[in-house]
Amino acid sequence: MKKISEKITSEMIAAFQKAGYDEKFAKVGISNRPDLCEYQCNGAMAAAKAYKKAPIMIANDVVAQLADSEVFSSVEAVNPGFINLKLKEAFVSAYLNEMRADTYLSVTQAENPQTIMLDYGGPNVAKPLHVGHLRSAIIGESIKRLGRAVGHKMIGDVHLGDWGLQMGLIITELKLRKPELVYFQEDFSGEYPKEAPFTISELEEIYPAASAKSKVDEEYKAQAMEATHLLQQGTPGYMALWNHIMTVSVNDLKKNYEKLNVSFDLWKKESDAQPYIPEMVQYMKDNDYAHLDQGALVVDVKEETDTKEIPPCMILKSDGASLYNTTDLATIVERMKLFHPDEICYVVDKRQELYFTQVFRCARKTKLVEEDTRLQFLGFGTMNGKDGKPFKTREGGVMRLEHLLEEINEEMYKKIVDNRSVKEEDARKTAQMVGLAAIKYGDLSNQASKDYIFDIERFTSFEGDTGPYILYTTVRIKSILNKYMETKELPEGTILPAASDSEKALMMEMAKYGSVIEGAFADKAPHKVCAYIYDVANAFNHFYHETKILSEENEEQQKSWIQLLILCRDILEKCVDVLGFEVPERM
Ligand code: ARG
Repeated sequence: MKKISEKITSEMIAAFQKAGYDEKFAKVGISNRPDLCEYQCNGAMAAAKAYKKAPIMIANDVVAQLADSEVFSSVEAVNPGFINLKLKEAFVSAYLNEMRADTYLSVTQAENPQTIMLDYGGPNVAKPLHVGHLRSAIIGESIKRLGRAVGHKMIGDVHLGDWGLQMGLIITELKLRKPELVYFQEDFSGEYPKEAPFTISELEEIYPAASAKSKVDEEYKAQAMEATHLLQQGTPGYMALWNHIMTVSVNDLKKNYEKLNVSFDLWKKESDAQPYIPEMVQYMKDNDYAHLDQGALVVDVKEETDTKEIPPCMILKSDGASLYNTTDLATIVERMKLFHPDEICYVVDKRQELYFTQVFRCARKTKLVEEDTRLQFLGFGTMNGKDGKPFKTREGGVMRLEHLLEEINEEMYKKIVDNRSVKEEDARKTAQMVGLAAIKYGDLSNQASKDYIFDIERFTSFEGDTGPYILYTTVRIKSILNKYMETKELPEGTILPAASDSEKALMMEMAKYGSVIEGAFADKAPHKVCAYIYDVANAFNHFYHETKILSEENEEQQKSWIQLLILCRDILEKCVDVLGFEVPERM
């Protein structure tokens, strides 16, 4: 269905044409003087030059054509040549009724759905999730949902970090603690045990301990590097251990992502790309893309127009070892082979931007992707504490995601039970839902590329531009609807033209829904959805403050308001779903 803005523009185009002017001047925009009008058209000013006429004369000619418009209730030409517009109440309500009848509530579905792979999450095996991984998960999940809302095929891949030194460190530490394990017996030929020789808590203690040791003990670090090497060579005992580490760790990661309402279509990992490396390297050599530079194999990726130095992309180190780059390039090869995506989008910390510039240029230059395959880096800023420095625990350590969630939930729980009698279990569940909204909205309402301050107090507030405020408003609408249904059936029929300014203002906000979702996806900008639902919530609360819905005696009017509320709830719930959280029944 056509957007409300398109309908308004068509009406204006017709008026310009009837008055004898080119339609290209008929652009209509939202008014920047809401005290005077709702929309405005400044085209007469531009047309004045083309037609050598005073702009006000042109504006008057156009206005004369709109005397019996079905769209505008007031059309005014004002000096020096603006056209100020207000919409007819009946036009707006008719649009909302049309929206209700549309399966997608006016969101246009992509005509040629694209396959878009999203690389997000990026956790590292055996290392606990920390707040650095939070943003990637939250933003990536929302972009995936936005893409689906407009009809694209979105494939989310967690791209686990499982191929680094962390594996060697764990194995080395384990060997030191439990040398008797069969995994370390070189001549072992039996079957390795099915049970892992450690639990997740042990694993989470082993890694930091090993990592700390390696920083002060050269010998230990060398052992860990050797173990990593042996693992990558496929040493059976180490491979078996690696499998255990993977299973234990992935199970735990899945639980954590579930708590965040984040899910992935693919649980691919860096090691999955390794088999593609030898052939890729050979191909790069054969085609003269790569050359040796001080023993290392590199691909030059600088371009003439560069204003800063872009170093070559290193494919193999002088000792023949592959790098983070190599894995990412081989992953591109694998993704092209298995999914043939139209686009691969990476939601990663913006400090990795230069790195991705190198990888993308290298992939293009060496033709690992097709000419029209889009590679996009969506870098996000740092989540800072109130002191403006990267977010830490009170003790100054790295904050684990689990602990952060616990802290927020506790804060929410206190607010929910405050002065109210709610069942413990219900309150805990609600606290979890509202807590997640607080975190996600707090994050997503900022432009992704910017740093932001993680402020628990502000994020958990029920007032202002926060997740809890949005949920609170939606729950309020739901509870009005529930009250209504205690005595009456859900009404049929249509939404009537607005009966007050506040109702009209709400309707006009609701009418923007389709364009907002489409625009937010086009820019991969969930913050636009946040800004939108904040406006809708404010417009609703204003309307509700002035309108006695449940005690309204005119039944037709009451039915219409109930319909309006249902649509408003649906819009809010759809937006909340796109942002990746949920609305509780009560709050
Ligand atoms: N595991 C990496 C980290 O923790 C993030 C991975 C990002 N994705 C990628 N394809 N390189 O920094």
